Amino acid sequence: MRARTPAAGGRGKGIKMQHMKTCRKKITLALLAASAFGCAFSAPREVPLKDALRGRFLVGAALNEAQVSGPDRRAAELAMREFNTVVAENCMKAASIHPEENRYNFGPADAFVEFGRKGRMKIIGHTLIWHSQLPEWFCVDSEGRNVSAQTLKKRMRDHIRTVMGRYRGAVKGWDVVNEAIEWDGSWRKSKFYEILGEEFLYLAFRYAREADPSAELYYNDYGMDGKAKRERVVEIIKNLKSRGLRIDAVGMQSHMGMGHPDIGEFEKSIEAFAAAGVKVMITEWDMSVLPFVASGAEISTNAAYREELNPYAESLPAEMSGKWNARMADFFRLFLKHSDKITRVTAWGVSDGDSWLNNWPVRGRTDYPLLFDRNLERKPFLNEVLGAKR
Ligand code: G3I
Repeated sequence: MRARTPAAGGRGKGIKMQHMKTCRKKITLALLAASAFGCAFSAPREVPLKDALRGRFLVGAALNEAQVSGPDRRAAELAMREFNTVVAENCMKAASIHPEENRYNFGPADAFVEFGRKGRMKIIGHTLIWHSQLPEWFCVDSEGRNVSAQTLKKRMRDHIRTVMGRYRGAVKGWDVVNEAIEWDGSWRKSKFYEILGEEFLYLAFRYAREADPSAELYYNDYGMDGKAKRERVVEIIKNLKSRGLRIDAVGMQSHMGMGHPDIGEFEKSIEAFAAAGVKVMITEWDMSVLPFVASGAEISTNAAYREELNPYAESLPAEMSGKWNARMADFFRLFLKHSDKITRVTAWGVSDGDSWLNNWPVRGRTDYPLLFDRNLERKPFLNEVLGAKR
Protein backbone atom coordinates (compact mmCIF):
# COMPACT_ATOMS: atom_id res chain seq x y z
CA MET A 1 0.00 0.00 0.00
CA ARG A 2 1.56 3.30 -1.00
CA ALA A 3 2.32 5.82 1.73
CA ARG A 4 -0.23 8.57 1.58
CA THR A 5 0.39 12.20 2.25
CA PRO A 6 -2.33 13.77 4.43
CA ALA A 7 -4.79 16.09 2.72
CA ALA A 8 -3.36 19.29 1.32
CA GLY A 9 -2.60 21.92 3.96
CA GLY A 10 -1.09 19.43 6.40
CA ARG A 11 2.35 17.83 6.35
CA GLY A 12 1.48 16.79 2.83
CA LYS A 13 1.89 20.34 1.58
CA GLY A 14 5.49 20.36 2.76
CA ILE A 15 6.17 17.01 1.10
CA LYS A 16 4.53 18.19 -2.07
CA MET A 17 6.55 21.41 -2.19
CA GLN A 18 9.77 19.50 -1.50
CA HIS A 19 8.90 17.05 -4.23
CA MET A 20 8.17 19.82 -6.69
CA LYS A 21 11.55 21.44 -5.89
CA THR A 22 13.26 18.11 -6.61
CA CYS A 23 11.43 17.82 -9.93
CA ARG A 24 12.39 21.36 -10.90
CA LYS A 25 16.03 20.67 -10.00
CA LYS A 26 16.02 17.56 -12.20
CA ILE A 27 14.55 19.47 -15.12
CA THR A 28 17.01 22.34 -14.63
CA LEU A 29 19.97 19.95 -14.62
CA ALA A 30 18.59 18.29 -17.75
CA LEU A 31 18.27 21.66 -19.44
CA LEU A 32 21.81 22.65 -18.50
CA ALA A 33 23.12 19.33 -19.74
CA ALA A 34 21.15 19.63 -22.96
CA SER A 35 22.30 23.20 -23.62
CA ALA A 36 25.91 22.14 -22.90
CA PHE A 37 25.61 19.59 -25.68
CA GLY A 38 23.65 21.91 -27.93
CA CYS A 39 20.59 19.59 -27.93
CA ALA A 40 17.31 21.07 -28.98
CA PHE A 41 15.56 20.22 -25.77
CA SER A 42 12.30 21.96 -25.09
CA ALA A 43 11.30 21.05 -21.57
CA PRO A 44 7.54 21.13 -21.03
CA ARG A 45 6.50 24.23 -19.17
CA GLU A 46 4.77 22.35 -16.39
CA VAL A 47 5.61 19.72 -13.85
CA PRO A 48 4.16 16.48 -15.26
CA LEU A 49 0.78 15.58 -13.70
CA LYS A 50 2.12 12.28 -12.39
CA ASP A 51 4.82 14.16 -10.43
CA ALA A 52 2.51 16.92 -9.23
CA LEU A 53 0.09 14.27 -7.92
CA ARG A 54 2.60 11.76 -6.56
CA GLY A 55 1.47 10.47 -3.21
CA ARG A 56 -2.15 11.53 -3.87
CA PHE A 57 -3.43 9.25 -6.68
CA LEU A 58 -2.36 7.85 -10.04
CA VAL A 59 -3.31 9.92 -13.09
CA GLY A 60 -3.77 8.78 -16.65
CA ALA A 61 -6.02 8.32 -19.65
CA ALA A 62 -7.69 5.84 -21.96
CA LEU A 63 -5.53 5.15 -24.98
CA ASN A 64 -6.60 4.17 -28.49
CA GLU A 65 -4.75 2.11 -31.09
CA ALA A 66 -3.43 5.12 -33.03
CA GLN A 67 -1.66 6.25 -29.87
CA VAL A 68 -0.08 2.99 -28.70
CA SER A 69 1.19 1.70 -32.01
CA GLY A 70 0.41 4.09 -34.81
CA PRO A 71 0.45 7.64 -36.18
CA ASP A 72 -0.51 9.60 -33.08
CA ARG A 73 3.05 10.07 -31.75
CA ARG A 74 2.31 13.44 -30.11
CA ALA A 75 -0.39 11.95 -27.89
CA ALA A 76 1.88 9.01 -27.09
CA GLU A 77 4.67 11.38 -26.00
CA LEU A 78 2.23 13.36 -23.87
CA ALA A 79 1.01 10.15 -22.20
CA MET A 80 4.56 9.01 -21.46
CA ARG A 81 5.40 12.41 -19.96
CA GLU A 82 2.26 13.13 -17.96
CA PHE A 83 0.73 9.80 -16.88
CA ASN A 84 1.58 6.86 -14.61
CA THR A 85 -1.46 4.75 -15.51
CA VAL A 86 -3.22 3.85 -18.74
CA VAL A 87 -6.37 1.94 -19.68
CA ALA A 88 -7.38 0.36 -22.99
CA GLU A 89 -10.25 2.37 -24.50
CA ASN A 90 -11.42 -0.43 -26.80
CA CYS A 91 -8.88 -3.11 -27.64
CA MET A 92 -9.55 -5.37 -24.65
CA LYS A 93 -13.33 -5.49 -25.02
CA ALA A 94 -14.69 -8.92 -25.88
CA ALA A 95 -15.80 -7.93 -29.40
CA SER A 96 -12.25 -6.82 -30.16
CA ILE A 97 -10.09 -9.34 -28.29
CA HIS A 98 -12.31 -12.43 -28.68
CA PRO A 99 -14.34 -11.98 -31.87
CA GLU A 100 -15.10 -15.69 -32.36
CA GLU A 101 -15.40 -18.46 -29.78
CA ASN A 102 -12.24 -20.15 -31.04
CA ARG A 103 -10.34 -17.02 -32.15
CA TYR A 104 -8.65 -14.31 -30.12
CA ASN A 105 -7.22 -11.07 -31.50
CA PHE A 106 -4.45 -10.09 -29.10
CA GLY A 107 -2.42 -7.83 -31.38
CA PRO A 108 -3.85 -4.44 -30.36
CA ALA A 109 -4.02 -5.42 -26.67
CA ASP A 110 -0.41 -6.64 -26.76
CA ALA A 111 0.64 -3.27 -28.19
CA PHE A 112 -1.30 -1.44 -25.48
CA VAL A 113 0.30 -3.50 -22.69
CA GLU A 114 3.76 -3.01 -24.21
CA PHE A 115 3.17 0.77 -24.28
CA GLY A 116 2.25 0.72 -20.59
CA ARG A 117 5.29 -1.41 -19.73
CA LYS A 118 7.64 0.94 -21.62
CA GLY A 119 6.21 3.87 -19.66
CA ARG A 120 6.46 1.93 -16.38
CA MET A 121 2.76 2.70 -15.88
CA LYS A 122 0.01 0.92 -13.95
CA ILE A 123 -1.83 -0.89 -16.74
CA ILE A 124 -5.60 -1.33 -16.44
CA GLY A 125 -7.63 -3.88 -18.39
CA HIS A 126 -11.07 -2.78 -19.60
CA THR A 127 -13.32 -4.79 -19.56
CA LEU A 128 -13.94 -8.51 -19.10
CA ILE A 129 -17.74 -8.83 -18.81
CA TRP A 130 -19.92 -6.11 -20.40
CA HIS A 131 -23.30 -6.27 -22.17
CA SER A 132 -22.00 -3.93 -24.90
CA GLN A 133 -19.29 -4.66 -27.47
CA LEU A 134 -20.14 -8.33 -26.84
CA PRO A 135 -19.49 -10.60 -29.82
CA GLU A 136 -22.62 -12.22 -31.23
CA TRP A 137 -21.55 -15.75 -30.28
CA PHE A 138 -20.91 -15.17 -26.56
CA CYS A 139 -24.41 -15.72 -25.10
CA VAL A 140 -26.34 -17.47 -27.88
CA ASP A 141 -26.13 -20.72 -29.84
CA SER A 142 -25.88 -21.11 -33.62
CA GLU A 143 -29.66 -20.67 -33.84
CA GLY A 144 -29.50 -17.39 -31.91
CA ARG A 145 -31.11 -18.85 -28.80
CA ASN A 146 -29.72 -18.11 -25.34
CA VAL A 147 -27.21 -20.76 -24.35
CA SER A 148 -27.60 -22.79 -21.14
CA ALA A 149 -26.33 -21.53 -17.81
CA GLN A 150 -23.63 -24.19 -17.90
CA THR A 151 -22.45 -23.17 -21.37
CA LEU A 152 -22.35 -19.48 -20.49
CA LYS A 153 -20.40 -20.15 -17.31
CA LYS A 154 -17.83 -22.10 -19.33
CA ARG A 155 -17.57 -19.34 -21.95
CA MET A 156 -17.15 -16.66 -19.29
CA ARG A 157 -14.51 -18.69 -17.48
CA ASP A 158 -12.58 -19.48 -20.67
CA HIS A 159 -12.68 -15.82 -21.76
CA ILE A 160 -11.55 -14.48 -18.40
CA ARG A 161 -8.87 -17.13 -17.91
CA THR A 162 -7.42 -16.67 -21.39
CA VAL A 163 -7.38 -12.87 -21.42
CA MET A 164 -6.23 -12.34 -17.84
CA GLY A 165 -3.79 -15.24 -18.07
CA ARG A 166 -2.04 -13.68 -21.07
CA TYR A 167 -1.38 -10.45 -19.20
CA ARG A 168 -0.80 -11.89 -15.74
CA GLY A 169 1.73 -9.73 -13.92
CA ALA A 170 1.54 -6.97 -16.55
CA VAL A 171 -2.06 -5.76 -16.18
CA LYS A 172 -2.36 -4.69 -12.54
CA GLY A 173 -6.12 -4.19 -12.38
CA TRP A 174 -9.24 -5.23 -14.31
CA ASP A 175 -12.72 -3.85 -14.79
CA VAL A 176 -14.17 -7.31 -14.19
CA VAL A 177 -17.81 -6.30 -14.74
CA ASN A 178 -18.92 -3.06 -16.41
CA GLU A 179 -22.34 -1.35 -16.16
CA ALA A 180 -24.48 -4.12 -14.63
CA ILE A 181 -26.84 -1.77 -12.75
CA GLU A 182 -29.50 0.60 -14.11
CA TRP A 183 -30.15 4.19 -12.97
CA ASP A 184 -32.98 3.00 -10.67
CA GLY A 185 -30.72 0.47 -8.92
CA SER A 186 -32.18 -2.56 -10.70
CA TRP A 187 -30.05 -5.14 -12.45
CA ARG A 188 -29.57 -4.47 -16.17
CA LYS A 189 -31.46 -7.18 -18.08
CA SER A 190 -28.44 -8.18 -20.13
CA LYS A 191 -27.96 -11.61 -21.65
CA PHE A 192 -25.69 -12.43 -18.72
CA TYR A 193 -28.53 -11.57 -16.31
CA GLU A 194 -31.19 -13.33 -18.39
CA ILE A 195 -29.26 -16.61 -18.31
CA LEU A 196 -27.52 -16.54 -14.91
CA GLY A 197 -29.33 -13.89 -12.87
CA GLU A 198 -27.23 -11.79 -10.46
CA GLU A 199 -24.87 -14.78 -10.13
CA PHE A 200 -23.10 -13.77 -13.34
CA LEU A 201 -21.39 -10.92 -11.55
CA TYR A 202 -20.15 -13.03 -8.64
CA LEU A 203 -19.02 -15.78 -11.01
CA ALA A 204 -17.06 -13.23 -13.05
CA PHE A 205 -15.20 -12.05 -9.95
CA ARG A 206 -14.53 -15.66 -8.92
CA TYR A 207 -13.14 -16.57 -12.34
CA ALA A 208 -11.01 -13.39 -12.35
CA ARG A 209 -9.54 -14.20 -8.93
CA GLU A 210 -8.66 -17.68 -10.18
CA ALA A 211 -7.15 -16.33 -13.40
CA ASP A 212 -4.73 -13.87 -11.77
CA PRO A 213 -4.57 -13.82 -7.96
CA SER A 214 -2.18 -10.84 -8.10
CA ALA A 215 -4.50 -8.54 -10.06
CA GLU A 216 -6.74 -5.91 -8.50
CA LEU A 217 -10.42 -6.42 -9.36
CA TYR A 218 -12.96 -3.63 -9.92
CA TYR A 219 -16.65 -3.08 -10.56
CA ASN A 220 -17.05 -0.14 -13.00
CA ASP A 221 -20.15 1.89 -13.87
CA TYR A 222 -21.48 5.33 -14.83
CA GLY A 223 -24.04 7.38 -12.92
CA MET A 224 -22.56 6.21 -9.64
CA ASP A 225 -23.53 9.49 -7.99
CA GLY A 226 -27.16 8.34 -8.08
CA LYS A 227 -28.58 7.20 -4.72
CA ALA A 228 -30.28 4.08 -6.07
CA LYS A 229 -27.22 2.89 -7.98
CA ARG A 230 -24.96 3.77 -5.05
CA GLU A 231 -27.01 1.63 -2.68
CA ARG A 232 -27.10 -1.36 -5.05
CA VAL A 233 -23.34 -1.18 -5.63
CA VAL A 234 -22.71 -1.03 -1.88
CA GLU A 235 -24.87 -4.18 -1.59
CA ILE A 236 -22.80 -5.86 -4.32
CA ILE A 237 -19.54 -4.94 -2.58
CA LYS A 238 -20.82 -6.44 0.66
CA ASN A 239 -22.05 -9.60 -1.12
CA LEU A 240 -18.69 -10.08 -2.82
CA LYS A 241 -16.90 -9.72 0.49
CA SER A 242 -19.31 -11.99 2.34
CA ARG A 243 -18.61 -14.68 -0.27
CA GLY A 244 -14.87 -14.30 0.28
CA LEU A 245 -14.41 -12.83 -3.22
CA ARG A 246 -11.87 -10.12 -4.01
CA ILE A 247 -12.96 -6.60 -4.93
CA ASP A 248 -10.37 -3.87 -4.53
CA ALA A 249 -12.21 -0.84 -5.85
CA VAL A 250 -15.23 0.51 -7.63
CA GLY A 251 -14.80 2.60 -10.74
CA MET A 252 -16.91 5.75 -10.92
CA GLN A 253 -16.76 6.41 -14.65
CA SER A 254 -17.56 10.12 -14.07
CA HIS A 255 -18.91 11.10 -17.50
CA MET A 256 -20.11 14.58 -16.59
CA GLY A 257 -21.91 17.56 -18.12
CA MET A 258 -22.31 21.16 -17.06
CA GLY A 259 -25.48 20.30 -15.14
CA HIS A 260 -24.75 16.80 -13.83
CA PRO A 261 -23.75 15.17 -11.53
CA ASP A 262 -24.47 17.09 -8.35
CA ILE A 263 -21.10 17.34 -6.57
CA GLY A 264 -22.69 16.71 -3.18
CA GLU A 265 -24.25 13.43 -4.34
CA PHE A 266 -20.98 12.50 -6.01
CA GLU A 267 -19.15 12.98 -2.71
CA LYS A 268 -21.74 10.87 -0.86
CA SER A 269 -20.96 8.01 -3.24
CA ILE A 270 -17.20 8.32 -2.72
CA GLU A 271 -17.78 8.10 1.01
CA ALA A 272 -20.32 5.26 0.78
CA PHE A 273 -18.07 3.05 -1.36
CA ALA A 274 -15.08 3.72 0.89
CA ALA A 275 -17.17 2.92 3.97
CA ALA A 276 -18.08 -0.41 2.32
CA GLY A 277 -14.37 -1.26 2.40
CA VAL A 278 -13.09 -0.62 -1.12
CA LYS A 279 -11.02 2.06 -2.81
CA VAL A 280 -12.59 4.44 -5.34
CA MET A 281 -11.28 5.11 -8.83
CA ILE A 282 -12.35 7.89 -11.19
CA THR A 283 -12.11 5.74 -14.28
CA GLU A 284 -13.50 7.59 -17.34
CA TRP A 285 -13.53 11.29 -16.44
CA ASP A 286 -14.76 13.78 -19.00
CA MET A 287 -17.13 16.75 -18.93
CA SER A 288 -19.16 17.78 -21.95
CA VAL A 289 -19.79 21.50 -22.55
CA LEU A 290 -22.39 20.80 -25.23
CA PRO A 291 -26.16 21.15 -24.94
CA PHE A 292 -27.62 18.29 -22.90
CA VAL A 293 -29.01 15.38 -24.87
CA ALA A 294 -28.36 12.40 -22.55
CA SER A 295 -26.49 11.82 -19.31
CA GLY A 296 -24.54 8.72 -18.32
CA ALA A 297 -22.80 6.73 -20.99
CA GLU A 298 -25.29 4.28 -22.49
CA ILE A 299 -23.39 3.74 -25.71
CA SER A 300 -26.53 2.65 -27.55
CA THR A 301 -28.06 6.12 -27.08
CA ASN A 302 -28.02 8.33 -30.16
CA ALA A 303 -29.81 11.46 -31.35
CA ALA A 304 -30.07 13.21 -34.70
CA TYR A 305 -27.64 16.04 -35.47
CA ARG A 306 -28.99 19.59 -35.28
CA GLU A 307 -26.90 22.75 -35.58
CA GLU A 308 -28.12 24.03 -32.23
CA LEU A 309 -26.66 20.93 -30.56
CA ASN A 310 -23.17 21.83 -31.85
CA PRO A 311 -22.71 25.49 -30.86
CA TYR A 312 -18.90 25.48 -30.55
CA ALA A 313 -17.93 23.81 -33.81
CA GLU A 314 -15.04 26.25 -34.45
CA SER A 315 -13.87 27.10 -30.92
CA LEU A 316 -15.00 27.34 -27.31
CA PRO A 317 -15.89 30.91 -26.20
CA ALA A 318 -13.82 32.19 -23.25
CA GLU A 319 -16.89 32.54 -21.06
CA MET A 320 -17.87 28.89 -21.56
CA SER A 321 -14.29 27.75 -21.14
CA GLY A 322 -14.18 29.61 -17.84
CA LYS A 323 -17.34 27.93 -16.59
CA TRP A 324 -16.06 24.49 -17.67
CA ASN A 325 -12.68 24.97 -15.99
CA ALA A 326 -14.34 26.17 -12.80
CA ARG A 327 -16.58 23.10 -12.64
CA MET A 328 -13.69 20.75 -13.41
CA ALA A 329 -11.62 22.47 -10.70
CA ASP A 330 -14.42 21.88 -8.17
CA PHE A 331 -14.41 18.14 -8.90
CA PHE A 332 -10.62 17.95 -8.99
CA ARG A 333 -10.45 19.58 -5.55
CA LEU A 334 -13.02 17.02 -4.36
CA PHE A 335 -10.81 14.20 -5.64
CA LEU A 336 -7.80 15.70 -3.82
CA LYS A 337 -9.86 16.10 -0.65
CA HIS A 338 -10.62 12.35 -0.80
CA SER A 339 -7.20 11.19 -2.00
CA ASP A 340 -7.16 8.84 0.99
CA LYS A 341 -10.01 6.96 -0.73
CA ILE A 342 -9.34 7.66 -4.42
CA THR A 343 -6.34 5.79 -5.85
CA ARG A 344 -6.62 6.67 -9.54
CA VAL A 345 -8.02 9.43 -11.77
CA THR A 346 -8.25 8.47 -15.43
CA ALA A 347 -9.57 10.71 -18.21
CA TRP A 348 -11.48 9.02 -21.01
CA GLY A 349 -9.06 10.05 -23.72
CA VAL A 350 -5.82 12.01 -24.02
CA SER A 351 -7.05 15.25 -25.63
CA ASP A 352 -10.34 16.77 -26.77
CA GLY A 353 -10.09 15.50 -30.33
CA ASP A 354 -9.89 11.91 -29.08
CA SER A 355 -13.11 12.00 -27.09
CA TRP A 356 -16.02 9.66 -27.78
CA LEU A 357 -18.22 12.65 -26.87
CA ASN A 358 -17.52 14.22 -30.27
CA ASN A 359 -19.80 11.47 -31.59
CA TRP A 360 -22.06 10.53 -28.63
CA PRO A 361 -24.96 10.83 -28.24
CA VAL A 362 -24.90 12.92 -31.44
CA ARG A 363 -22.41 12.16 -34.21
CA GLY A 364 -20.26 14.92 -35.66
CA ARG A 365 -20.11 17.46 -32.83
CA THR A 366 -17.10 19.32 -31.40
CA ASP A 367 -16.72 18.88 -27.65
CA TYR A 368 -14.04 20.05 -25.19
CA PRO A 369 -14.26 17.45 -22.38
CA LEU A 370 -10.74 16.32 -21.44
CA LEU A 371 -7.59 17.40 -19.56
CA PHE A 372 -5.71 18.48 -22.71
CA ASP A 373 -7.01 20.53 -25.66
CA ARG A 374 -6.64 19.84 -29.39
CA ASN A 375 -3.20 21.46 -29.32
CA LEU A 376 -2.26 19.04 -26.53
CA GLU A 377 -2.07 21.99 -24.12
CA ARG A 378 -3.06 21.39 -20.49
CA LYS A 379 -6.44 22.83 -19.49
CA PRO A 380 -6.11 25.82 -17.10
CA PHE A 381 -7.97 24.25 -14.15
CA LEU A 382 -5.13 21.76 -13.61
CA ASN A 383 -2.43 24.35 -12.96
CA GLU A 384 -4.92 26.51 -11.09
CA VAL A 385 -5.52 23.68 -8.60
CA LEU A 386 -2.01 22.21 -8.63
CA GLY A 387 0.07 25.30 -9.12
CA ALA A 388 2.19 23.03 -11.27
CA LYS A 389 3.82 25.67 -13.45
CA ARG A 390 7.59 25.77 -13.26
O1 G3I B 1 -12.45 -0.28 -34.85
C1 G3I B 1 -13.66 -0.21 -35.64
C2 G3I B 1 -13.30 0.16 -37.08
O2 G3I B 1 -12.52 -0.90 -37.64
C3 G3I B 1 -14.59 0.34 -37.88
O3 G3I B 1 -14.26 0.80 -39.18
C4 G3I B 1 -15.48 1.37 -37.19
C5 G3I B 1 -16.81 1.48 -37.92
O4 G3I B 1 -17.67 2.26 -37.17
O5 G3I B 1 -15.77 0.97 -35.82
C6 G3I B 1 -14.57 0.86 -35.06
O6 G3I B 1 -14.90 0.43 -33.76
C7 G3I B 1 -15.45 1.48 -32.96
C8 G3I B 1 -14.60 1.58 -31.68
O7 G3I B 1 -15.17 2.53 -30.77
C9 G3I B 1 -13.15 2.01 -31.99
O8 G3I B 1 -13.19 3.29 -32.55
C10 G3I B 1 -16.87 1.08 -32.59
O9 G3I B 1 -17.67 1.14 -33.76
C11 G3I B 1 -17.42 2.05 -31.55
O10 G3I B 1 -18.68 1.61 -31.08
C12 G3I B 1 -16.46 2.11 -30.35
O11 G3I B 1 -16.99 3.07 -29.44
C13 G3I B 1 -16.44 2.96 -28.13
C14 G3I B 1 -17.59 2.64 -27.14
O12 G3I B 1 -17.10 2.61 -25.79
C15 G3I B 1 -18.20 1.30 -27.43
O13 G3I B 1 -17.23 0.30 -27.21
C16 G3I B 1 -15.82 4.30 -27.75
O14 G3I B 1 -14.67 4.54 -28.57
C17 G3I B 1 -15.39 4.26 -26.29
O15 G3I B 1 -14.91 5.54 -25.86
C18 G3I B 1 -16.58 3.88 -25.40
O16 G3I B 1 -16.12 3.77 -24.06
C19 G3I B 1 -17.13 3.37 -23.10
C20 G3I B 1 -16.44 2.49 -22.07
O17 G3I B 1 -15.85 1.39 -22.71
C21 G3I B 1 -17.44 2.07 -21.00
N1 G3I B 1 -18.07 3.24 -20.37
C22 G3I B 1 -18.71 4.13 -21.34
C23 G3I B 1 -17.71 4.60 -22.38
C24 G3I B 1 -18.33 5.57 -23.34
O18 G3I B 1 -19.34 4.90 -24.06
